[in-house]
Amino acid sequence: MPIDKEAQLSTKSLLGIKDLTKQDLKLIFQTTEQFKEVLNRPIKKVPSLRDLTIANLFFENSTRTRISFELAEKRLSADVVNFSAASSSLKKGETLLDTVNNILSMKVDMVVMRHPAPGACVFLSNHINVPIINAGDGTHEHPTQALLDAFSIQEKLGDLAGKKIAIIGDILHSRVALSNILCLKKLGAEVEVCGPPTLIPNYISSLGVSVSYSLENTLNWCDAANILRIQLERQSTRYFPSLREYATYYGVNKQVLTKVNKDLIILHPGPINRGVEITSEVADSPNAIILDQVENGVAVRMAVLYLLASKP
Ligand code: CP
Repeated sequence: MPIDKEAQLSTKSLLGIKDLTKQDLKLIFQTTEQFKEVLNRPIKKVPSLRDLTIANLFFENSTRTRISFELAEKRLSADVVNFSAASSSLKKGETLLDTVNNILSMKVDMVVMRHPAPGACVFLSNHINVPIINAGDGTHEHPTQALLDAFSIQEKLGDLAGKKIAIIGDILHSRVALSNILCLKKLGAEVEVCGPPTLIPNYISSLGVSVSYSLENTLNWCDAANILRIQLERQSTRYFPSLREYATYYGVNKQVLTKVNKDLIILHPGPINRGVEITSEVADSPNAIILDQVENGVAVRMAVLYLLASKP
């Protein structure tokens, strides 16, 4: 496989999109294309990480990210160990750092971590010496989700410079929103966030995005719309009267898309709340690339793992 062995990421770990340069993004996407080709072969496995052991540390629930990382690691021939907080000695009072240091002492070479606390991966990176990949830390960042989202849009629209991308929904509690904004802006896209005022943080304009409270106006403006879930598990107060009211004003359904009358690309990072932020009719329509995102996620994560492992 013609991967450029001289090209390197500028970072030792992937803690957030904020640490990546535009050149890093281009390198990750080029490498992703090569691994996507591998994944479409009858034998989907390469020996690139044959001598590495990777620990997947999940302190918060996950379906897509966890399986995607594990598959990516196995496709690269790494040895994989999975840790789940629910069945661990965390329940007996062990700290995050003690837990991770114990796992690392068993000769683990790289860590993938999801944690409910924003900044947990940055904290860990200050205390351990192996590369860390952030698989989502609270309301902070979810870098590999943003990479696979941008890669999937790019597959449909080409170069993202000047393309108009909307992020719709619960921006306030979303790590996907922040990582997407940082990634898309670095690639030269225009970004608009849309949702009820209570779910759009005041600082968001400082990231160079426009803000809209009208779903129809935003859908009229954009080339692609990334629709986010309402993160009820992160909400300690009520930000809107009811899910039914949210669906009425901000749910993406066939009626609003018919009014907009353009060939929009629809994304959703999952998990979907059908009938709330998106109807089944839209989620299962030809315009939706939701399962393409999931498919691309494995190749994107293979690229990130490979590039971080290749750093001297
Ligand atoms: N998109 C995403 O992070 O999904 P999971 O929570 O299922 O991993």
